[in-house]
Amino acid sequence: MIQDLIERIVVCIWKVLPAYVANACPLIIIRNRKGHPLDFNKKFIDNKPILGSGKTIEGFIAGIVIGGIVGVLQTPSNLIRAFTLSLGAMLGDSMGSFIKRRLNIERGKPAPLLDQVMFILVAIILSYRFETYTLKDIIIIVAITVPLHIATNRIAYFLGIKKVPW
Ligand code: CTP
Ligand code: MG
Repeated sequence: MIQDLIERIVVCIWKVLPAYVANACPLIIIRNRKGHPLDFNKKFIDNKPILGSGKTIEGFIAGIVIGGIVGVLQTPSNLIRAFTLSLGAMLGDSMGSFIKRRLNIERGKPAPLLDQVMFILVAIILSYRFETYTLKDIIIIVAITVPLHIATNRIAYFLGIKKVPW
C-alpha cells in the first residue's frame, strides 16, 4: 500500500518535473540581480502593478529554457510536452502574481495556496494533451506540490538564496 503510493508519487513528480525546475529557476538564476520587469513597470486599471517587480523577463525565459531542457532530456521525442510544462509553470506563476496584486498583496508577501498551486495547475492544463494524467495523478500532484513548494522555499531561505522563508 504505502509502497504503491510512494511509487505513484515518484511517477507524478517525474511527469511534471520540467514545471518544478522552471518554477525554481528564476529564484536561483536572478537571485539579487535585477532583471527587467515582465510588466514593464506598468500599472493595471486599479492603479496597482500588473505583476510587480518580482516577475522578470530574464526569470521567465530562464524558467522556460532550463525547464524545457530538463523535459527534452526526459522525453526527447516529445518536445511539446517539455515546452508546455515549463511555459505553463511560468505563466501560472505570473498569473498568481497578477491575482495577488489585485488582492492587494504586495510583491514578496505570501499568499497561501496561490503561491504554491497556480504554477502547477497551469502547467498541467497546458501540457494536458502531451502528458498522460489520470484524475488521481492530478490530485496527487497538487497535494504534493503544496508541501514540496513550502519545504523547498524554506531550504532556499536557510541557504541564503531567498530573503523570506515562503
Ligand atoms: N523571479 C523572477 N522572474 C520570474 C519569477 C521569479 O526574476 N518570472 C525571481 C524574483 O527575484 C522573485 C523570486 O524569483 O523575487 C521569487 O519568486 P516568487 O516568490 O514567485 O516572487 P515574489 O518576489 O514572491 O513576487 P510575488 O509576490 O509576485 O509572487
Ligand atoms: Mg514569493
